[in-house]
Amino acid sequence: MPTSAWPEKGRPAIVITGASSGIGAELARESASDGLPIVLVARNRMSLATLAEELAAAGHEAHVLALDLQAPDAAGTIGAMLTEAGLICDVLVNNAGYGLIGAAVDLPAAEQIGILDVNLRAAAELALAALPGMVRRGRGGLLNVGSIAGFMPGPGMASYYASKAALRSLSDAWWAETRGSGVAVTLLCPGPVKTPFLERSGAKETRLFQMLPKATAAAVARRGWAGFRRGKRIVFPDPMSWLMARACAALPRGILLRIMSRLQRKQ
Ligand SMILES: NC(=O)c1ccc[n+]([C@@H]2O[C@H](COP(=O)([O-])OP(=O)(O)OC[C@H]3O[C@@H](n4cnc5c(N)ncnc54)[C@H](OP(=O)(O)O)[C@@H]3O)[C@@H](O)[C@H]2O)c1
Repeated sequence: MPTSAWPEKGRPAIVITGASSGIGAELARESASDGLPIVLVARNRMSLATLAEELAAAGHEAHVLALDLQAPDAAGTIGAMLTEAGLICDVLVNNAGYGLIGAAVDLPAAEQIGILDVNLRAAAELALAALPGMVRRGRGGLLNVGSIAGFMPGPGMASYYASKAALRSLSDAWWAETRGSGVAVTLLCPGPVKTPFLERSGAKETRLFQMLPKATAAAVARRGWAGFRRGKRIVFPDPMSWLMARACAALPRGILLRIMSRLQRKQ
């Protein structure tokens, strides 16, 4: 699949995927204070338009792009929109994502591949369209919204956990490769967050999500954006997410797998 080159000339803008709800919408509100135009990307045009109106009322320039990131050449569509608006991607926020609770043999295969497609392939495709220009300009960066799911195996939600583990690996490598270039690459790793994701994925029916405290999307976005602007490689938005990642790193994989098999069962 060709990776589209994004425009190199224009006004710097922040491109946020998955901006129609949850963490993405809060990242749009949070980043708006930087004063750059914001490009809001997701499928739900109505929600994006409502957010764009809210941002415009507060004096911010916001553009809406209703797009399914699973569509062929989604990156090309974003590039064309940026060219038309006279914008360049100064910051890319790879936030769009979804997951589904269920065993691999029970969930439709297309849904499981779709999760990898949106959370991983599309995120990588957009990053590869944006990063070369950022490095040439020596500014801007990439904020990848990962998860503590990237630190552990995920029986009962395998594709989702795998997508976040691979995104973490890519994000770390891109951080190292762009170090000293003036470009920031940050991985934001929340634990459970109160957003439509919990309902959509079925995660709120699992023991794991029921027993853990839920952060607010606004707090996650605030800490994520601040960490990104400070050039941090990884941001845990609260002590609980930091502790869980540490515990997962310390436990032998076989034990972690047994614990996760129990905790991910639907209640
Ligand atoms: N909530 C949690 O507990 C939690 C924890 C850790 C990490 N995260 C991560 O945080 C990110 C944001 O999730 P959230 O919690 O804020 O949930 P959310 O409110 O459901 O937001 C997900 C966003 O992704 C967009 N999206 C999904 N599929 C898409 C597609 N095919 N094309 C374009 N956009 C698509 C959705 O927009 P449309 O439906 O309008 O397309 C929505 O804007 C995700 O990457 C998620 O994995 C969430």
